[in-house]
Parts: sequence; C-alpha cells; structure tokens
Amino acid sequence: MADTMTGLKRTHYCGEPRLSDSGKEITVCGWVQRQRDLGQLIFIDLRDRTGILQLAFDDGTNREIFEKAFTARAEFVLCAKGFLRERSAKNPDLPTGDVELFVTDLRVLAKSETPPFEIVENSKVKEELRLKYRYLDLRRADMQQKIMTRHKITKVARDYFDENGFLEIETPNLIVSTPEGARDYLVPSRVFPGRFFALPQSPQQYKQLLMLSGFDRYMQIARCFRDEDLRADRQPEFTQIDLEMSFVTPDDVMAIGEGFMKRVYKEVLNIDIETPFPRLPYQEAMERFGSDKPDMRFGLELIDVSDLLANTNFRVFQNALQNGGAVRGINLKGHADQLSRKEIDKLTEWIKDYGAMGIAWTRLTEKGESSSYEKFLADEEVSAIRTKMNAEPGDILMLVASPKQQVVFDALGALRCELARRFHLADTSNPNLLWVTDFPLLEFDEDENRFVAKHHPFTMPREEDIPLLKTAPEKVCAKAYDMVLNGNEVGGGSIRINDPELQEMMFEALGFTPESAHAQFGYLIDAFQYGAPPHGGMAFGLDRLVMLMTDSESIRDVIAFPKVASSCELMTNAPGIVDEKQLQELGIAILPQDDTKKDE
Ligand code: AMO
Repeated sequence: MADTMTGLKRTHYCGEPRLSDSGKEITVCGWVQRQRDLGQLIFIDLRDRTGILQLAFDDGTNREIFEKAFTARAEFVLCAKGFLRERSAKNPDLPTGDVELFVTDLRVLAKSETPPFEIVENSKVKEELRLKYRYLDLRRADMQQKIMTRHKITKVARDYFDENGFLEIETPNLIVSTPEGARDYLVPSRVFPGRFFALPQSPQQYKQLLMLSGFDRYMQIARCFRDEDLRADRQPEFTQIDLEMSFVTPDDVMAIGEGFMKRVYKEVLNIDIETPFPRLPYQEAMERFGSDKPDMRFGLELIDVSDLLANTNFRVFQNALQNGGAVRGINLKGHADQLSRKEIDKLTEWIKDYGAMGIAWTRLTEKGESSSYEKFLADEEVSAIRTKMNAEPGDILMLVASPKQQVVFDALGALRCELARRFHLADTSNPNLLWVTDFPLLEFDEDENRFVAKHHPFTMPREEDIPLLKTAPEKVCAKAYDMVLNGNEVGGGSIRINDPELQEMMFEALGFTPESAHAQFGYLIDAFQYGAPPHGGMAFGLDRLVMLMTDSESIRDVIAFPKVASSCELMTNAPGIVDEKQLQELGIAILPQDDTKKDE
C-alpha cells in the first residue's frame, strides 16, 4: 500500500527554495527524477512543474526514512518534509542548486513502473512513442514550459480583450453543416435518425449573429474542427482566439489585433513589438515572395524573367509563356559552393510536389559555370536573365516555368523558404509581423468549375469593386486581412457583408440559385433582414501563435493531447470502433470497407 499525506501539506514547489530559505522547514511533493545511493548518503532529485529540488538523506536520517529513500526509483511520487540547508557541493545549473532538503518525513505516495523513456528535456525519443505515452511526455520540463506558456497567452488574451470592452460569449459546438470551406466533422443525431450535426470549423456565423444581437465586441477562445489534410502547422481540432466587432473599418480590427500581439509579446516574452505592422497587398506578396504568408526575415525575392523570353525557342519556357504562365526565379547569392549538383537535383525532385516540372538552374562557382538550361537559349537571353537577376560568381540562379502562374509562385515560394532554412538566412532576432491585405474575394475552383470564396461567403468586397462581381468576379478584392508572423499565417479576418442585397449578389457569384442559397443559409439571410450593423473581425490561430512564441517545430508540441497526421490520437486510439447497439440507436449501418482503406 502506498503512503498517504496525512499530517503533511505541501508548502513549496520544488523549484522555489533559495539559499535565503535555509533553515526553514518545508514540505514538497513531486516525482523522482533520479536517486543516487552513495552508501551512507542518498540523494533524490525531486521534480515538479516548477523545477527540481535535491532531497538529502544521511547518517542523521531516521532509519525507516533512509530505507524508503533507498527503494525510491525514477518516477515514484514522493512527499518530503524537512529542513532546507546549504549544499556543500552546489549545482550552478539548477535555480535551487545552492540548497537541499534534509528530509525528516518521507511518504511514497505512488510507485512507478520503469517508464518507456527517460523523462528528460529535449528528448530524442520517437514522436510516436512520446504520443502513445503522452502523460509521461508531458512531464518533461520543456513540454511543461510550452503548456504553461500557452496558458499565459490565453490569459493575456482574456485580459486584453476584456480591458478593451469585449465580452466572452460561447457559441455551440453542435451546429448545422455548411459545405462551403473545409470538410466538416459530422455527429449523428439519435433523436432524428439520418440527420447530423456538424462540429464548427469556426464560430463565424454565430459571432456575426451576435453582432446583430447588439453584443458589439465579442471574443471567444473557441475550439474549431476541420477534417482536412494535416501538416506541421495544422490540427483537425484546434483553438482560435476569435473576435468580432460592430461599427468598424479594417483599420479598427487590425489595430485591435496589433494591440493584442504587442501585449502578448511584452507580457509573455518581454519583447517589444512595433506597431502598426507593415501591410503588403496580396498581389505584391505573391510576386515578390510567391506566398500570401511571406517570410520577410530574408531576401531571396522572386524575379520575373518572362518578358525577356517572349521569343524564346526553348520549349519548356515557350510552353509556359504561350499558355498564360510565367518564368520566374530566385538568386541564391554566394552559396554556389555549398549546394552541389546532386543537391540541386534533389531539390528538382522535391519541387515536383508543388506541381512544378523541375528547376532550371545556373551555378556560378569560382571554378567555373554550369547550367541545366542556358544551352537551349540564345546568348542575348542568357545575358539578359543574368543581368536582371544580378548574377555574380558564387551565385546559383534557380528558375521555375509553368503555364500556371500559381504553380510558379507555390514552387518558388516554398523553395526560398527551404533555402533560407538550409543556409540560416532568416534574421531571427525579432518576430517579423505584417498584414497581407487586398485578397481576391473569389478564386476559380477547377474541380467544381465555379468560383469559390477565398475566405468565406460573408466577406465584404471593396466598395469600388462591387460592380465587378457580375462582370469580372476574379478581379474583385476583399476587405480581408491576414496577419503573418515569421512566414506563418497566425490570424485572419475581414469586414463582413451586412447588406442582404449584396449578400445575394455574392451567393450568385458563387453559383448559388436564390433557392439553394436559402436552403443552406436561410437563417442567416433572414437574420440580415432585421437590422444588421456593419461589422468585421478576425481570429488568431492560438496553437500556431504558441508554436511560434515557444520556438516549437510542430503545432503538436503545444497541444497537450494532439492528433497525428492520420488524424488519430495515439494514446487512446481515437477514433474507435463503437458497439453495434450504439449504431442501431443512431440508425447507422457501416458499409463494407475495401481492404486498403482499413489498413490506413
Ligand atoms: P481562418 O480559417 O483563416 O479564419 O482561421 C483563422 C486562423 O486559425 C488558424 N488555423 C489553424 N490552426 C491550426 N490548425 C488548423 N487546421 C487551422 N486552420 C486555421 C490559422 C488561421 O489564421 N472565421 C474566420 C476568421 C474570421 O474571418 O474572423 C476563420 O476561421 O492561424
């Protein structure tokens, strides 16, 4: 049987005691980091979420306690009472390293099996194993720091928005499915067999309805659910710091968003951030950085060489240009010696994931030059490209050509980030924040053969572009803005449509008939007939913000119980199989799965 804490009460966390506390009688609780048995002396490092304190047992220790200390193993849970005293051999690496607790009462509150991995900082253990035993992984000091920082960020958010007159209002998690946007997670209804709730992808529609109700400043730390392909910065279940405001312009919402970032960086990391943030129109972001979330901590800007190749005979470039595409490139300055031909070949394969056919490259080393494509061009074309790209010895020019502009942007946008990562080009001394503005309202979806909303169907177009909705929808700019932090989209929002007539035009541009729009969004269309104030807002991705503020590599590191790429949770094995009886109650029958699907 384990000991109890009867008669003892924790007075201090392990990380708290200092030399000035010497002589005090204190009680601490925690897990055994390690036990060292030196014969006449036993030391135990006791750990809790604040740090480690050395417990000491020696000749003066009562025999029974000494024996208990002798049996203590890693991860046993102990409660120890004793007197703090100065250590003879100090440990400058520990904040508590000047003192130790000479133990006079020891309780073994729980024993532990040998854990599957050692509980140490910055563990190199495989993530799969860490996630299977997440409750142990979360005992590691670096993970605890991240989770505690997450708490602080959330707390600052609540304080900041409260001080600025926002009300925190919860919105439902069981809602109606709307097919616009990512795939919904569905929840079957037992009461109405064959009908489904959806989990919200964001509180978007409810927060707009709250504006109609007159709660003119709303915020919520909101859980969102999206059934989409996962990446390092995405989870199927994630958290937004969501806000909405009435009677505002984009500048008002952006100022509130900037104020929050300034406050959170100051309070959590003691970093001063300058406001207002620079703003970059979407088109410029794409042309200069190949991305709508440009990482501006380094150069490597895209250079358009299409105009130099109008008459080229080189088929790859010709094909791109004659079909409405482009040839653009980047110049990796001064690194020709550090990127071998073999590595360029590997990058050429890698870039195919972005839809590009490869990289056309020129490598100018001190020893000589080589190129994959210059031999197919006229001399004047070669020298025009080199001049425009400011080519010098030591440089590597990398070009991408495609009949699709977007492919060129995506491929080069990714390539510049990859090169910056490899050659440590980013200036990481300060967080780099900016807004991307003037997004297109709509984009053409080739699979669906219609325009779809780039953000969502309730985004307000720029007033001057409204007439284009009917004639040239692709040219309409939205009153939308994304906040970018170190090349990551940490937040985004827009001013919303509050005029029913304009909303109808928008639905029409998206290919809805009045009937189909009503069938899907009837309650919203109706609501907007009853005095909808002008309103707008935004949402921060809390997980991404914490990931960036804690310098974490993956969003999974800042979520206590995250999911892996296949959207399952390794510890509980969710999603799980349910009883036939549960399915019957819901009126659900499972179709036979093909074998490949079952193995996934
Ligand atoms: P949006 O879809 O841009 O906007 O989301 C806002 C922010 O949420 C974060 N985010 C994610 N984080 C982790 N995993 C995901 N799968 C994921 N998807 C998005 C991003 C993003 O910037 N309702 C609108 C906001 C508004 O218009 O007010 C919305 O949800 O950091």
